[in-house]
Amino acid sequence: MSHTDDHDGPTAPRTLPPGFTFGASTSAFQIEGATTLDGRGPSIWDAFCRRPGAVTGGDTADRACEHYVRYREDVALAADLGVDTYRFSVSWPRVMPDGLTVNPKGLAFYDRLVDGLLAREITPFACLFHWDLPQAVYERGGWGDRDTALRFAEYAGIVADRLGDRVGMWATMNEPWVHLLRGHIIGDHAPGEHLMDWGPIVHGLLLAHGGATSALRASGVRGAVGLIESVAPVRPLSESPQDVGIAQMFDAIRNRLFLSAVLHGRHEDAVVRMMPSLIDCAQAQDMTTIAGELDFLGINYYQPVGIRAAAPGGPVPFEFGPVPGLGTTAAGFMIDPDGLRESLVELGARHRDRLPPIYVTEIGCACTDELDEAGRCDDRARIDYIGDHLRAIGGALDEGVDVRGCLVWSLLDNFEWDQGLGSRYGLVHVDFRTQRRTPKASFHWYAGLIARHRRSATPA
Ligand code: BGC
Repeated sequence: MSHTDDHDGPTAPRTLPPGFTFGASTSAFQIEGATTLDGRGPSIWDAFCRRPGAVTGGDTADRACEHYVRYREDVALAADLGVDTYRFSVSWPRVMPDGLTVNPKGLAFYDRLVDGLLAREITPFACLFHWDLPQAVYERGGWGDRDTALRFAEYAGIVADRLGDRVGMWATMNEPWVHLLRGHIIGDHAPGEHLMDWGPIVHGLLLAHGGATSALRASGVRGAVGLIESVAPVRPLSESPQDVGIAQMFDAIRNRLFLSAVLHGRHEDAVVRMMPSLIDCAQAQDMTTIAGELDFLGINYYQPVGIRAAAPGGPVPFEFGPVPGLGTTAAGFMIDPDGLRESLVELGARHRDRLPPIYVTEIGCACTDELDEAGRCDDRARIDYIGDHLRAIGGALDEGVDVRGCLVWSLLDNFEWDQGLGSRYGLVHVDFRTQRRTPKASFHWYAGLIARHRRSATPA
């Protein structure tokens, strides 16, 4: 049910406390374009989009939103939106084209971006890896090679030394689970692998996170340090013991493969039984590095998982299906705001005193956004979606979960990975031909909500 019938004046749920942080998120590969400008090296996504028969259907991110050259306009949009924080990612291949050598021009771009945000009183939130691995690093072995994690920690230290005095929040990486699943198992994301033995990739990503956390701390960054992971309630599609059992098994991987290691310094027994190479490739002290103290956990939420046991003899013991009774976004994602509340409460209950404060670092939906004759985009479905998910966060707060903020995905329509330029998630419409930006109805709604929340939280 939507709670935002009045699209001009809905307020934030009362349970969002004063000081609750509002933001918007983006990522480098999805918006920057300029893939060969100023010495940027190729990333695995540049190569993936150019494969014969690529899933992106010929779309590349060569231009995307041209944010690399138009960033001032985008920072001004973020300021008009009134966000407290703006999350961007730093492109490793822009800063270190071969993964080893620093490109001063690449680093200088993020310097300008951070200063531009601060000039508008927006807290810069930098994520060091949002899936755009340098192609050269991939060719030297990618995440399955221990050396990649060590190089990533060096890169983290270099960015930290340059921006550490000004960035307010740091994430080592975005959604390692999705990068593993889609990039290395299903293969519809870069680098397009279909691995059966994915334990070394998980260990490499975990070690990279831990090493980068240590590098940020060693550099003395002023901002908070965290990790961003995606969660989803796993719902059995029937009450049969087989379906319930497979849902529990999948939940351990889907929601805790990375978080158990990062928050508790160990893998769950059932997970190790399934993938023994997870610990075979770990050296002494690795788990201690991986479980370094975090200041916050970023949580991205899109949809639940519907799952049932598969008939015997198939390649995997489960199959996915739609959860009955849920509508879908234009991207076909199931809409289930209560799944966000449920996931946040579950995180609190399961990880208890090991769980740092949470920021919801992505909620958002794809809509069929078109400009009307007057040049406006009336994306009511997105307003309802975001409003309902903010209310779900309010519900989790009521149940005692320490959620400090919420960032909407995304500030701009952008390059939506396997969907190319065809799937729009922005609060701002981008005409990819002219690069014209047009704030949608959801932009004005979110700006109003943030302004009202701030006024109501300010003592008279
Ligand atoms: C990713 C974003 C992506 C969004 C929508 C998230 O998993 O972090 O990069 O655009 O989902 O699919």
